Amino acid sequence: MRVLVTGAAGFIGSHLVDRLVADGHRVTGLDDLSTGRLDNLGAARKSKLFGFHRFDITSADLMTVVARDEPDVVLHLAAQMDVRKSVADPLHDTRTNVLGTVNVLEACVRNQVPRVVFASSGGTVYGTPPKLPATERMTLHPASPYGSAKAAAETYLAAYQRLHGLPGCSLRLGNVYGPRQDPHGEAGVVSVFAGALVKGRPTTVFGDGTSSRDYVYVDDVVDAFVRCLGGKGDGRRLNIGSGVGTTVRQLHTLVARAVGSADAPEFAPSRPGELPAIALDSGQARRALGWEPVVGLKQGLAQTVEWVRGRRAPSR
Ligand SMILES: NC(=O)c1ccc[n+]([C@@H]2O[C@H](COP(=O)([O-])OP(=O)(O)OC[C@H]3O[C@@H](n4cnc5c(N)ncnc54)[C@H](O)[C@@H]3O)[C@@H](O)[C@H]2O)c1
Repeated sequence: MRVLVTGAAGFIGSHLVDRLVADGHRVTGLDDLSTGRLDNLGAARKSKLFGFHRFDITSADLMTVVARDEPDVVLHLAAQMDVRKSVADPLHDTRTNVLGTVNVLEACVRNQVPRVVFASSGGTVYGTPPKLPATERMTLHPASPYGSAKAAAETYLAAYQRLHGLPGCSLRLGNVYGPRQDPHGEAGVVSVFAGALVKGRPTTVFGDGTSSRDYVYVDDVVDAFVRCLGGKGDGRRLNIGSGVGTTVRQLHTLVARAVGSADAPEFAPSRPGELPAIALDSGQARRALGWEPVVGLKQGLAQTVEWVRGRRAPSR
């Protein structure tokens, strides 16, 4: 298949590109490198199956590339993905996450792209659900501009399906972790803890440590996208998570164990826009895609710590 991946140089996008190229697909990657890195695409760029373009997804260049490449599917991952930044600068967040998504959908419709798969956020669209794990039937109550933008983008996908017959699927991802996650961003707590503990530096838990998240390994997330390529998820919004909440304090203990270091974080006040607890019921993804997570937290953390130990100084 011909696959176009937005956000290709990012953490999840680059793993997705590697898998698609390994599976023999012809892949075009787009990214403005605002948080992504060309280094992440080092292996893919050696392949004849992969091509890369650097530009902003809100720009007119998108139309040109989609028209020229005629992809069979667009996997839309490019985003401003930092909850705290979305609180500090909601207009920037909206521009990338809502207008950028609309630009992607317009490019798909005008060029008869058969389908689009969107990276939504199970960790933020539900807000604080009445019951855990959250199911897709629950009402959305996002508590940050980032979560609101993801919820809005999902509704645009649904509207484009109704209005233009553009099939699509939104994958509501849990807290994704694994190699290549940027420890300098706010989202990758695993990477932040692992990076600090490997170097023997202090770590900070924001809040009292009881807030919990649903951690899912990046290869499992990539597998969910791949399962959507042929249309299995069309018309759906699917949770992609483990179903289990892990508190930030528990996570610190597990990362410290994987590193072999002391488990003694400092504590600081919690940050705006962050939620007390989330876990995602992925029963629908299991039924619709045959997907379930195969990498447990212990194994995934060990693989992540191994990568952090071997990481070179990053370059864009
Ligand atoms: N990491 C998680 O836990 C998580 C959870 C839920 C959803 N998601 C979603 O998955 C997707 C990928 O996230 P990630 O963790 O890989 O983050 P990331 O920041 O590593 O990847 C996002 C990529 O998008 C690119 N980008 C940002 N703005 C752009 C723009 N205007 N034009 C072109 N490219 C742009 C960045 O340079 C980056 O490479 C995002 O849509 C994110 O919201 C991630």
